[in-house]
Parts: sequence; C-alpha cells; structure tokens
Amino acid sequence: MAKLTILEFPDPRLRTKAIPVAAVDDELNALIDDMFETMYAAPGIGLAATQVDVHWRFLVADVSPDQSQPHALINPVILEKDGVRVSEEGCLSVPGYYEDVQRAEHIRVKFLNREGDPVEMEADGLLAVCIQHEIDHLDGKLFVDYLSEAKRQRIRKRLEKSRRHQAAAAM
Ligand code: NI
Repeated sequence: MAKLTILEFPDPRLRTKAIPVAAVDDELNALIDDMFETMYAAPGIGLAATQVDVHWRFLVADVSPDQSQPHALINPVILEKDGVRVSEEGCLSVPGYYEDVQRAEHIRVKFLNREGDPVEMEADGLLAVCIQHEIDHLDGKLFVDYLSEAKRQRIRKRLEKSRRHQAAAAM
C-alpha cells in the first residue's frame, strides 16, 4: 500500500469529470486500498478518486469513529434523495476550511462493490452527506462551489498564499 498525494483547491485537475470504471480488477482494488490508507492517514471520512488525480468514478468513505465501516463505491449513482440536512463540511482538498452546506438527509445509491457486483444501499445523516460530497468530486465539483463567490475567492487566495509560504520554507 502507498499513501497518495491529495490535490488541493484551486488545482484545475479537481475540475475533471471522472469517467465510469470499465473493469473492477486488481489494479482498481489496489488503488482503493491506497485511497483508504490516504484517507485514514489524513485523517478524513471520505475521498474521491478525483482528489488523488485518478479520473475514474469511485470513492471511499468511513464515517465511523474507529475505522470499522469502510465503504468503497464504484460507479455510484444516487437513485433517491429525501429530506434536507445542513451540516458543516470540510474537504481534504480544501484544508482548514469548514462551512455549512445543504444536502439531502437520506439517499439510496447504487454502485459496484469491490468484487464488481451491483449493490444498492441506503444512507442517512453523515454517511449520506459524505457520499453526496464525494460524488460531487467525481463531477468536478467542490463544496466551496455552494458558497458565495466572494467567500470562495477568499478561501482560494488564503490557500494559495499559505502554499507559497510552505514552498519557501521547504527550500
Ligand atoms: Ni472533499
């Protein structure tokens, strides 16, 4: 297993629309293992392939407090959305920023599991929010897109500035 590099806003590669996974094979499962390792190490509760510069439609998530409920969703499609939930979201690609975003409270989603079998799952609350957030990534969308233009530009400028300082210190 290997830890992968997470792209950060406003990297234009985060705007790529991912294409469907054609085959659930050993290569894909190795990437999924690496994504779980990267997500847990960050630490985070969800990671989409887009964020590690892989533009296929799959994501990993685990909202449990003890890394006991790993979910890998390949070619996920939301079939139903119900209810409204506003919660504070963050993103491993927008480090240090947390803002309220409105999502569906409950979803039903279909996807392929790690064996390549079609599965349907219901999700509520935090897991539902996380899956919606990660599927947005596969479509090239970030949670900051739900904020005002002024707020998004402020976050972009601050992140660019802090990365310049990091680059200078790393010499
Ligand atoms: Ni994210």
